[in-house]
Amino acid sequence: MLELLRKIFRYGHHEILLTTIDINNNPNTAPMGVKLSNNFLIIEPYTSTDTYSNIARGSDLVINVTSDSILYYSSLLRPEKLNYSKARHVNSFIINGNIDMYIEGRVMKIENISSIRARVVIDPIDIYEGEGSNAAYSRANNALIEALVYYTKLQPLIIQGQHHQVMETYQRIKDLVALINRLGSSELKEAARTVLAKATNITSKLQKQCRYKD
Ligand SMILES: Cc1cc2nc3c(=O)[nH]c(=O)nc-3n(C[C@H](O)[C@H](O)[C@H](O)COP(=O)(O)O)c2cc1C
Repeated sequence: MLELLRKIFRYGHHEILLTTIDINNNPNTAPMGVKLSNNFLIIEPYTSTDTYSNIARGSDLVINVTSDSILYYSSLLRPEKLNYSKARHVNSFIINGNIDMYIEGRVMKIENISSIRARVVIDPIDIYEGEGSNAAYSRANNALIEALVYYTKLQPLIIQGQHHQVMETYQRIKDLVALINRLGSSELKEAARTVLAKATNITSKLQKQCRYKD
């Protein structure tokens, strides 16, 4: 199992979909960064996320390895579109569909690394193949995942009062959406439209202030 994990996570910091269970035993999925360190998997969730609350409450977890941007998009903005099955060994769920690998895990340790972020050490229990992402490399597919990363940064930046970074992040989302509109399928374009509309909505107050100053 370790050899396979070393291969899957060979590039350092990777992105995955993490499924935990909430207080009612329902699945909750969020995109998270993960890395392999000393035979354990490490994630660093913000303590404001539901994922962190579920883990702190003792939830097991499943790491769904996929490069399908629509699954990342669905987990954040269309959670009702995700279908699940029970995990094999741990008390959590796997996402059905375009998943390359499932890694079932249990939480070994939770450390606070700052006032807003925790470090969670995960013991991998089992790893097995899913249906697969089954897509050739697509810049538009990658761009949608990148746009979602920046989209999820907007609200925290606004709360921290980092107004300049908010507008820079918004501009990055616009550039990525332009690329998706050039190279993506209608499904990706529709997702990109939704992300941009939501990002525009979140930043609209600041945009008005910026126009005022110009
Ligand atoms: C590709 C990607 C990677 C992300 N990585 C992290 C991460 O490592 N830690 C984190 O707290 N949030 C990360 N986020 C943001 C969370 O997914 C986002 O805050 C989400 O809404 C949390 O959902 P939850 O409240 O259901 O846990 C990432 C987002 C994307 C799109």
